[in-house]
Amino acid sequence: MIDRKEIIDIVQDYEPDKIKIGAVASHSALDVFDGAVEEDFRTFAICQQGREKTYSHYFKAQRDAYGRVKRGIVDEAVMLKKFNEVLLPENQQMLRDQNILFIPNRSFTSYCGIDEVENDFAVPIVGSRNMLRSEERGIDRDYYWLLEKAGLPFPERINDPQDIEELSIVKLPHAVKKLERGFFTAATYEEYLKKSEALLKQGVITQEALDNARIERYIIGPVFNFDMFYSPIEEEMSKLEILGIDWRFETSLDGHVRLPAPQQITLAEHQLTPEYTVCGHNSSTLRESLLEDVFMLAEKYIDAASKYYDPGIIGPFCLQTCIDKDLNFYIYDVAPRVGGGTNVHMSVGHPYGNTIWRNNMSTGRRIAFEIRRAIEMDELGRIVT
Ligand SMILES: Nc1ncnc2c1ncn2[C@@H]1O[C@H](COP(=O)(O)OP(=O)(O)O)[C@@H](O)[C@H]1O
Ligand SMILES: [Mg+2]
Repeated sequence: MIDRKEIIDIVQDYEPDKIKIGAVASHSALDVFDGAVEEDFRTFAICQQGREKTYSHYFKAQRDAYGRVKRGIVDEAVMLKKFNEVLLPENQQMLRDQNILFIPNRSFTSYCGIDEVENDFAVPIVGSRNMLRSEERGIDRDYYWLLEKAGLPFPERINDPQDIEELSIVKLPHAVKKLERGFFTAATYEEYLKKSEALLKQGVITQEALDNARIERYIIGPVFNFDMFYSPIEEEMSKLEILGIDWRFETSLDGHVRLPAPQQITLAEHQLTPEYTVCGHNSSTLRESLLEDVFMLAEKYIDAASKYYDPGIIGPFCLQTCIDKDLNFYIYDVAPRVGGGTNVHMSVGHPYGNTIWRNNMSTGRRIAFEIRRAIEMDELGRIVT
């Protein structure tokens, strides 16, 4: 792990009025850049050839003679053959020369690799570098481990597929679609065998991934992803904020639920098992009396994170939950960074974030606002790792 002290030294050499916000141009980068522009920062997109035009062309920024943005959000776009070239020493040097504060997202960790992010990427990250690993399901001290330590509710684990007695979800990676899921559900061991055999035959999953899959109870109820924010530099008011809530569109699950039952039953074998590839987001609110529970869950998570993953959560994080029929929350995933669904609140802000801040406050803007405050307080070192 890169020593935090080394990163703080780098930040101390930055020229405060030249600081730019950078991110790998994917996942939630638009929200991050939009927020940065709102808070008067220049933005820097690290693009991969072939998927760069969203950033370098369509959302490119145009500024007037005074530097005010007239249009768009991306001031500079650097083009790499592969995202992981951002790790090359000369590219890291370029980022530091540009006074970049780097906002980590899931594309960054997925394409660059956790070991590399921890050990080789000597660029100031806004957030907790050491926590990024916790979302790698199945490793030591992953997010389930942390949830257990925190005494937080998560879907009960089923250790042996033969013990499946009610609807359960089997979580494993997709064999072909790199970085996607090969999840399936089963209510009995027989169904598990039948479905896993079919998916193996179709090449959707591998035996090795199946052997290492996490099986857990399926929570029947709506999904709420809570986009939270924790500010270590806030001294007067709550350090914890709820900014907003999103939920996801997933292929082909969402297609299945839009079919009437008779049509679902006549689907072909290869269409029967829905896939869970995220392809869009929607916004929601939560029944007001349940908000108190969400704050409690988040506070416990923050406490456990600071105990077991010093310095703990810094900035945005996302609790991904299901609620059952008795209004119990189950956390099935945690993103210790900006969540994947915050574009739904881009520019217009989140309902809760706007209400707290009396202004349009998306996650991207909240990050930039935190950086702005830290610069003004001369406390940048407290929000980078
Ligand atoms: N225990 C569960 N009960 C019900 N649905 C679940 C459960 N776990 C995951 N899901 C569904 O699967 C989707 C992806 O799960 P998640 O654990 O977040 O995977 P990933 O790590 O790939 O994001 C969720 O959006 C949710 O719809
Ligand atoms: Mg998830």
